[in-house]
Amino acid sequence: MAKEVKTIGVLTSGGDAPGMNAAIRAVVRKALSQGLKVKGINQGYKGLLNEEIIDMDARSVSDTLAKGGTILYTARCSAFRTEEGQNQAAEICRKHGIDGLVVIGGDGSYAGAQKLAARGINTIGVPGTIDLDIACTDYTIGFDTAVNTAMEAIDKVRDTSTSHERCSIIEVMGRNAGYIALWCGIANGAEDILLPELYDYDEQVLINNIINNRKRGKKHHIIINAEGIGHSTSMARRIEAATGVETRATILGHMQRGGSPTCRDRVYASVMGAYAADLLAEGKTNRVVAYRDGKYVNYDIDEALAMQKSLPEYVVRVAKAMTI
Ligand code: ADP
Ligand code: F6P
Repeated sequence: MAKEVKTIGVLTSGGDAPGMNAAIRAVVRKALSQGLKVKGINQGYKGLLNEEIIDMDARSVSDTLAKGGTILYTARCSAFRTEEGQNQAAEICRKHGIDGLVVIGGDGSYAGAQKLAARGINTIGVPGTIDLDIACTDYTIGFDTAVNTAMEAIDKVRDTSTSHERCSIIEVMGRNAGYIALWCGIANGAEDILLPELYDYDEQVLINNIINNRKRGKKHHIIINAEGIGHSTSMARRIEAATGVETRATILGHMQRGGSPTCRDRVYASVMGAYAADLLAEGKTNRVVAYRDGKYVNYDIDEALAMQKSLPEYVVRVAKAMTI
């Protein structure tokens, strides 16, 4: 039987992502409009264990839609990975009257939400990560802003790379997933895209590509390297030595996580946040919000965490075909 929820909490967890504020705002305002009380938990599960809990009203989220980062701060918390930490967190929720919780984050944060659900706190996950690496959903909040930020930065590196007729290895984020690399590889017209899911670590292929592209009259050679492969600086040294082409490495890093969210991120985050509040109001628990095949849907967390995701094969082939 569905449990009636009167007060909900909301937290952001794991790496921050542009659009998280739009999601928080939507959770708060949709829940308030349903007659629920809302509490914000600062610093994710770490803040929950430290009881960093604040009351939120409609004004608490004013002027936040366009802001990067997360107004609730975020953290990674090892204490919450233990049973003791999870029991304590559930007790703290009960102490503060929090009977439902929206967790905005990635797979790891969902695993935490699953543990709280098993301890009687209704939980709903919302996909917030720039990595796009959550299997159950075609969209994760922050990806669109991050790829646009990375794309603009890579355009700039490409300008100077062309002027100097260099090879540039540009490392983008994505943890173990190649989505940001693949999208930037296509959007920036990279000559090579190194994807952790597919890369065979054969640098001779890259070396041959650079030499052949020079022969074909290409002035620069842009290699987008995914963080999951890494080692861009040492790779640049080896490639320069083998090809004689000046090679530089640029690691874009955390700039990809910041900045004002794009329209797309704001809209998806708003709908997903509101949907999460609705699911809690309906008494649902252990669910995650997703966008799949053009629709907003929700899945059981256990089911969602068991799903696998792979890079779209045809898109990878198109990216390759563009490099001639
Ligand atoms: P993301 O949510 O972006 O995948 P992490 O994997 O860093 O980020 O997870 C965020 C936090 O979620 C962790 O610091 C930890 O507190 C919690 N968490 C992750 N995995 C688990 C787990 N298996 N059980 C309980 N909590 C977890
Ligand atoms: O999950 C988002 C992400 O930016 C990944 O792309 C990256 O691997 C990781 O977080 C970096 O995290 P940190 O904040 O610990 O540097």
